[in-house]
Amino acid sequence: MRHLVLAAVSVAFAALVGPAVAQQPIVIKFSHVVAPDTPKGLAAEKFKELAERYTDGKVKVEVYPNSQLYKDKEELEALQLGAVQMLAPSNSKFGPIGIKEFEVFDLPYILPDLATLRKVTDGPLGARLLKLLEPKGMIGLAYWDNGFKQMSANRKLVAPEDYKGLKFRIQSSKVLEAQFRALGAVPQVMAFSDVYQALQTGVVDGQENTPSNMLTQKMHEVQKYTTLTNHGYIGYVVVVNKKFWEGLPADVRTQLDKAMKEATIFGNGRSAQENNDALEEMRKSGKTELIKLTPEQDAAMRKAMEPVYNDVASRISKSLVDEFRKEGGATN
Ligand code: LMR
Repeated sequence: MRHLVLAAVSVAFAALVGPAVAQQPIVIKFSHVVAPDTPKGLAAEKFKELAERYTDGKVKVEVYPNSQLYKDKEELEALQLGAVQMLAPSNSKFGPIGIKEFEVFDLPYILPDLATLRKVTDGPLGARLLKLLEPKGMIGLAYWDNGFKQMSANRKLVAPEDYKGLKFRIQSSKVLEAQFRALGAVPQVMAFSDVYQALQTGVVDGQENTPSNMLTQKMHEVQKYTTLTNHGYIGYVVVVNKKFWEGLPADVRTQLDKAMKEATIFGNGRSAQENNDALEEMRKSGKTELIKLTPEQDAAMRKAMEPVYNDVASRISKSLVDEFRKEGGATN
């Protein structure tokens, strides 16, 4: 009898506690450096919503925006160590961990529009670049867009000469370094979270970024002029810790893949509008004057930055640059 009571109690206990234990969710910490209301921030939130829904709560995604957990360089180290499971660093940030090939996306004027970019990322080159992440302990799941970069400073930037001697904050990319050197400016690598203060205090004179990043970090409030150059692109690779990803139950991974696919379509479908809206808000704020270049001024900027291609061809590989341009549909 005593046994029976004990058995009944343990069954009841298991019924009470067992499922709770079994339902401990798998946590994905997703760290990023930008504001929630940016193309990356919105796509991350969408992924969270879909991942939690499709896995029926088996997975919990914790999104940490605005460098809350880690700054640019630290977040990649944290991912490799397994302290976080998911990130979406910009293409420009893989050089310091030994994958310089992603810097091809930084080449000035290499992408005339987002449709060209999509051809590259969805094609064989895009897939091959993702494979380079695996020996570094990461798996690349998707390419997410931000958009095209604009230049800003407290000096009017209309001609290449205007850049001479000015200090510009850059992301950690040798291509971006070469780009500002080609303009006679002084590039300075700096974490994204430090840019506003560096501009405000004059540690640097200018910067390049997308309107959504500029607006949400209030950079436009401390830069008198923003020149609409659209000279370069900022986009992201969503990466996960390889060990973590491969250790997931197969059904969960399938559900997360589906969530990632849909979050990517959602985010990439609205990034251009997000940046247009941000630019409009910057204009309305009256805090920065938006400068449009004439076709002649635009041509002069393109010409001044041409040497960057040779520099990159010798550092990364000319065939990579050629392949990138060919997959994008370039005919020359
Ligand atoms: C930057 O550092 O300027 C950007 O890469 C930030 C971001 O993640 O968009």
